[in-house]
Amino acid sequence: MNRRRLLAAPLVLAACSRATADPVATELPPLKSITSFPLGVAASGDQFTDPAWARLVRANFDRITPEWEMKAEAFAPAGGGFDFSAPDRLVGAALAARLSVFGHTIVWQEQVPPALQAIDGDRRTFAAGFANYVRGVAGHYVGSLDGWDVVNEAVADDGSGLKTRNAFMANLGPDYIRLAFEHAREADARTPLLLNDYNLEQLPEKRRQFLRLAENLLRAGAPLTALGTQTHVPADLPRGAIAACLRDLASLGLPVHVSELDVSLARARGPERPAAIVGETVDALMALPERQRFGLTIWGARDRDSWLVRGGRRDAPVLFDDAGRPKSMAAALVEALR
Ligand code: G3I
Repeated sequence: MNRRRLLAAPLVLAACSRATADPVATELPPLKSITSFPLGVAASGDQFTDPAWARLVRANFDRITPEWEMKAEAFAPAGGGFDFSAPDRLVGAALAARLSVFGHTIVWQEQVPPALQAIDGDRRTFAAGFANYVRGVAGHYVGSLDGWDVVNEAVADDGSGLKTRNAFMANLGPDYIRLAFEHAREADARTPLLLNDYNLEQLPEKRRQFLRLAENLLRAGAPLTALGTQTHVPADLPRGAIAACLRDLASLGLPVHVSELDVSLARARGPERPAAIVGETVDALMALPERQRFGLTIWGARDRDSWLVRGGRRDAPVLFDDAGRPKSMAAALVEALR
């Protein structure tokens, strides 16, 4: 850790502990009761066995996004085929709790299904395997989901275009993205099909490439129905960055999903403004026509549920503290909706 990081560490820890002890005094209404768009939260199957988590999520959210059970790591075994037992359990638990489910994600270069990776290089067989894989996943959940992140994180951070070092690109070229949407639509005629990516708020060049990809998909007639911006942001994100991002994404006329919002204190290097960032996110979403507000999904219910605190890391990135009490970020969401 360099000297700057070392000096900042105590400040970060102090900020985290301050933010964790940040419950609001006033009683807030159930958050989903005041949003004019679906309010989602990341979830994993084992969390449904925690009564406190289930009570908090049922009261405040409309839908869940599986944090990991609807990815290749959970349902695409090395020997090929599918094992949907984990995602089916999660979908069942969500529907039983009267929560809808948003599917995340079919094609992600971080998790190439092992059976496809094994045929890397044999382009014809790979193309057939890819089509069967996408149709198999989308087809299994027909009619069950609010939408799918069909392709996740396809765009390079450096603004050069698409990420290239993956088996999808190696065997199918850039067309893998259009093919993924076409195969998903072949298996499911109605579910909204989304393109999702991260750092679109902080990296305007990456955002430009993401928009270019979306425009090219639409021009090619791909069944792209909405756009997702993950919005994993540091707590010192400059004012206006999220509004500019949502404005740009909405310029294509498609619905926009803020798909994985969390606001990291640990990643902030300047003045932290987590509540202001949540308020600005809601304002930016509400500035869109209602038909373009696909939804807002928070990437974790309580701070303790966040991926950002795993492995002993300290942070306070979401709306509710470890005890399930609403924090100033939750109050800012309510305030922005008043
Ligand atoms: O695999 C075990 C499983 O066997 C066990 O039953 C379960 C118990 O909870 O844990 C599983 O472990 C890990 C899982 O998170 C739950 O913590 C998985 O190994 C691990 O890969 C998984 O990490 C997830 C990661 O994506 C990779 O899928 C994180 O939770 C999740 O927050 C993160 O989310 C990503 C989005 O999909 C894309 N955008 C970035 C975001 C953060 O990295």
